[in-house]
Amino acid sequence: MKNFNYNIPTKVLFGRGKVNEVGKEAKRYGDKVLLVYGKGSVKKSGLFDVVVESLKKSGIHIYKLPNIDPNPRIDSVYAGAELCRKMGINLIIAMGGGSVIDCSKAIAAQANYYGDVWQDLYVEQKLNTLTSALPVASILTLAATGSEMNGNSVISNMHTNQKLAIGHDLLRPVFSILDPEYTFTVNQYHTAAGVVDILSHLFEQYFTPDQEGYLQNRLMEAMMKTVIEYGPIAYNELDDYEARANLMWTSSLALNGMVTYGKVSTDWATHGMEHELSAFYDITHGVGLGILTPYWMKYVLSEENVHRFVEYGKNVWNLDGENNMEIANKAINKTREFFSSLGIPSTLKEVGIDESKLDKMAEQATMFGALGSMKKLYKEDVLAIYKMAL
Ligand code: NZQ
Ligand code: ZN
Repeated sequence: MKNFNYNIPTKVLFGRGKVNEVGKEAKRYGDKVLLVYGKGSVKKSGLFDVVVESLKKSGIHIYKLPNIDPNPRIDSVYAGAELCRKMGINLIIAMGGGSVIDCSKAIAAQANYYGDVWQDLYVEQKLNTLTSALPVASILTLAATGSEMNGNSVISNMHTNQKLAIGHDLLRPVFSILDPEYTFTVNQYHTAAGVVDILSHLFEQYFTPDQEGYLQNRLMEAMMKTVIEYGPIAYNELDDYEARANLMWTSSLALNGMVTYGKVSTDWATHGMEHELSAFYDITHGVGLGILTPYWMKYVLSEENVHRFVEYGKNVWNLDGENNMEIANKAINKTREFFSSLGIPSTLKEVGIDESKLDKMAEQATMFGALGSMKKLYKEDVLAIYKMAL
């Protein structure tokens, strides 16, 4: 196992009614809060009113930044940062899914930054130039990204067709409120996309060529089984508390860093390929991942890495077979069947993507170098996977 420093500082308030504690928690950071939210789901679910009431009870002044897009845009980041500076905001509270939380983190970074975070951090990845950020908290309404417990932020620039990610410890939420009841209103489509995203995060950290990582891989198999057990229940019964609670907590644990501490490598090729689909076609992240993942699995599977697919097939899906390759292929098919059972399409054509931009997307996906560790993917490999997925 590799050396590591464990650092997951986010305080998590989990369960029914926990939203009422937001005022008390927020007050620790000052009395001016910027509430960031999306296109209206927080108002429909009633969450907005509960949060405002709790903040007001604690004597907090509220400023608002609504209308954050799914695949959040850099333009919203600039607008939010401007508001923070002008009003002297002490704490940003993101109410929503990954898009709202990621956007809030970028605002927190830009608010105290001397230059342009898009260029310096997202494009040029000069992460050590970020030396301070406003504190961010989150009230999660969609189980998917893990943004509620990590320092990652993914922002899109639709002017340049780029969707880029950063990760920085300063951007980890100071606290996150996870009340599964506020995910009951997530529709089937976004529930399914969230389920795929959680699984994909686990795959990206599980499918590595190393022999090491025994504990980490067993933890991830437990999380995969949890998602496979409860994903379909939540999808078919949107207000099943136990299912929503299991998905919510798994989404946080799957991408807060815990399962990779000590592991030799991770993969992240599928996310790299998916971000180009979203950047060019603005499609839902989890749907893009669901289309690409089984093709990626087929493409990278080899005699050298088949052992990991066998572990996945045996430990997660209880599969058996005549030989390793047979078990691996069955496991890949199971993965596709699972996604299909949640209504996830299996081709790019189904989400309106044709051949015209594949070459450009493959080029952009590999602009920082080859993707992945299971198999190094160069531009031509990425293009081949996109074409398989057409
Ligand atoms: O805008 P509103 O009205 O809030 O509607 C949202 C949005 O339309 C809706 N929604 C959220 N909670 C709801 C709800 N609808 C009804 N009831 C609720 N309780 O769901 C839609 C999608 O929301 P979004 O936040 O975009 O989804 P998600 O959480 O999947 O976030 C996706 C974004 O996160 C990035 C993705 O690339 C994408 O930009 N990621 C962030 C990561 C991270 N920070 O670690 C890692 C991921 O791999 C991912 O890349
Ligand atoms: Zn993801």
